[in-house]
Amino acid sequence: MASQEDIFKKLIAHSKEYGFVFPSSEIYDGLSAVYDYGQNGVELKNNIKKYWWDSMVLLNENVVGLDAAIFMHPTTWKASGHVDAFNDPLIDNKDSKKRYRADVLIEDLLAKYDDKINKEVEKAAKRFGESFDETVFRSTNERVLENQTKRNEIHGRFVKALNDSDLVELKAIIEDYEVVCPVSGTRNWTEVRQFNLMFSTDMGSTADGAMKIYLRPETAQGIFVNFLNVQKTGRMKIPFGICQIGKAFRNEIVARQFIFRMREFEQMEMQFFVRPGEEMKWFEHWKEFRLKWHKALGLGDQKYRFHDHDKLAHYANAATDIEFEMPFGFKEVEGIHSRTDFDLSSHEKFSGKNIKYFDPELNESYVPYVIETSIGVDRTFLSIMAASYNEELLENGETRVVLNIPAVLAPIKAAILPLVKKDGLPEKAREIMNDLKFDFKCGYDEKDSIGKRYRRQDAIGTPFCITVDHDTLLDNCVTIRYRDTMLQERVAIADLQQIIGDLVNMKNLFKKIVG
Ligand code: GAP
Repeated sequence: MASQEDIFKKLIAHSKEYGFVFPSSEIYDGLSAVYDYGQNGVELKNNIKKYWWDSMVLLNENVVGLDAAIFMHPTTWKASGHVDAFNDPLIDNKDSKKRYRADVLIEDLLAKYDDKINKEVEKAAKRFGESFDETVFRSTNERVLENQTKRNEIHGRFVKALNDSDLVELKAIIEDYEVVCPVSGTRNWTEVRQFNLMFSTDMGSTADGAMKIYLRPETAQGIFVNFLNVQKTGRMKIPFGICQIGKAFRNEIVARQFIFRMREFEQMEMQFFVRPGEEMKWFEHWKEFRLKWHKALGLGDQKYRFHDHDKLAHYANAATDIEFEMPFGFKEVEGIHSRTDFDLSSHEKFSGKNIKYFDPELNESYVPYVIETSIGVDRTFLSIMAASYNEELLENGETRVVLNIPAVLAPIKAAILPLVKKDGLPEKAREIMNDLKFDFKCGYDEKDSIGKRYRRQDAIGTPFCITVDHDTLLDNCVTIRYRDTMLQERVAIADLQQIIGDLVNMKNLFKKIVG
């Protein structure tokens, strides 16, 4: 069986070969951790964004949208805390000259202990069969207890070091537990230093006195600075939310794992403004709503889990991640944060403007509290691709590579395939396509055998192939072939619109969220 690492490599190659994701400026050998989305990738990405956007603004009448500029006044980032506190602790290995995030090295170390423990549990489960009691085993087995104690010890020190921003202690943990550089294999480390992740550039010509501005590291601040604009012009009453989709930029120290950690990426964020004191109720509400959004995609409920933060960001009083099981383990796809009144209060202070809301029901003014949901488009894209990529062994011994992308998100919904390139079949196929194209992104393909064409469509995740044959000219019926089951059915051309429409309607997903 192929390892998860092999599958991940294949997925990256597949993404490129089939026009989903290309390395940026590849003819110049690429740019580290920057990627371009190809003809199929951009369709999938747009569909993900539509699914998120509509789930926010259609299903919640008190959520509206916004599209703020990427460039913002530089004081924004002083107020938000990013100038002073948006840092990662970095450490270099003096032999390999490789740079790492100290916190990630320690997280990897913790994951190794988890792996060791889980392997012991798995082995024992196999050995004892039905009579195996995992809780008893975990609390009595010597090797498990030894590893668990060590893990807890490291974890305790790690959390404290993060909360105290204690860089010396982070280095001490790396040294005490003999973490080695994966490249050089040595423990020859530099000190741990803080590194600010924001990119900056100059606005205006130097003659005028250019201003240093930042590329936004999150879209959220565009929402905060527009809180009163939207509230007043939209006559919004608390609780209400503002959502936005847009690019964000971070000078990640260690960019790896394909589109998981990029330097330019896209976020879908919502800030939900609530009465002070009601934030925990809304935190729970949005946790549940967002998890349902993910699960409605049908990639497998067991692939998701919540992970509460060990270290709360400077603005948060509660925070959890929705993690997805990627080929390289459970990883954060979305963050849900209770941001208190930190951002609005801080903007009030730095701008000198009143950013309070007058609550007519309470007859008082206050700075609202905020629940944020923040999901990465690219990580969602990766999770969908990873869960959808399958290599199936067919009965005839052939292997079929298929992307079982949820039909509603598939880049191309239907491929129209004339059986042969003559006898009027291409014309009939074009006629069908011209009818369907108003509602669905369709593809047309007349080259190669029908089997090869099916495989090409499987590889890009097209849920329906429609074959036009000689009988079609007589009975106005076509063969529809379903990607996942490979089953074929003869249907009337007149019914195609409804058959496809029913299966790719986003309403089906929305009903799973709020039905
Ligand atoms: N406004 C809050 C915020 O930005 P975050 O946890 O730093 O929170 C939210 O980021 C989401 O943005 C993450 O869950 C992830 O999906 C995505 N994201 C963050 N950094 C990323 C990167 N370097 N590459 C790709 N996606 C990233």
